Amino acid sequence: MHPVRVAPSILAADFANLAAAVAQVAPATDILHVDVMDGHFVPNISIGPPVVQSLRRHTDMFLDCHLMISDPAEYLPAFKKAGADGCTVHVEVGDTSELIAQMRDLGLAPGLAVNPDTPFESVEPFLGDVDLVLFMTVHPGFGGQSFIADVMPKVKAARTLLDGRGWSATVQVDGGIDEATAPEAAAAGADLFVAGTAVFAQPDPADAVSRIKRAAENAR
Ligand code: DX5
Ligand code: ZN
Repeated sequence: MHPVRVAPSILAADFANLAAAVAQVAPATDILHVDVMDGHFVPNISIGPPVVQSLRRHTDMFLDCHLMISDPAEYLPAFKKAGADGCTVHVEVGDTSELIAQMRDLGLAPGLAVNPDTPFESVEPFLGDVDLVLFMTVHPGFGGQSFIADVMPKVKAARTLLDGRGWSATVQVDGGIDEATAPEAAAAGADLFVAGTAVFAQPDPADAVSRIKRAAENAR
């Protein structure tokens, strides 16, 4: 298990003022979650490589790009060029082995995401090959949804497998994470907590990050 970290999701920030959002959370964390949506894999459109490139000029934080897109192979080079540190592709889009190899070749930390209704068995074969496995705790596409606790058995299964094999992939949870839900995910074995609304819709985003982190740590 890695130390607890919180990755603020800029999906909940003011897109017209992202540099300010970055500055708000920088004192509390060193990883930023960037939600990329293509209007095809998910029914929403957000941001892409040009915004990653702009963010890169404003921060040294790890840019953790969550690609909710149908054809990541086509766009991974552009994310690398824009300054992404890690990219996470969804197992539901297929060609998983090829995508992991492509991310490694590009020098991107490879992540693999799994939707709430997709079984653990679909990601299991890849857990030794990725740097991060992301268990979606909402149906992807929108911020501000409620945490789906039914996903926790998958988090536990991943933690058991990773620890049993001595594999070091980070276990990330994303969707509806706040001070109340982070402890449940931490107890199940998550170590990286994405939070959008619970960070950027708060009066003090850095303090919100610290509170979520503390709540998760106390549940371990
Ligand atoms: C959902 C995104 C999440 C989202 C989380 O499709 O992948 O990262 O921004 O937002 P909250 O924390 O508001 O649920
Ligand atoms: Zn996300």
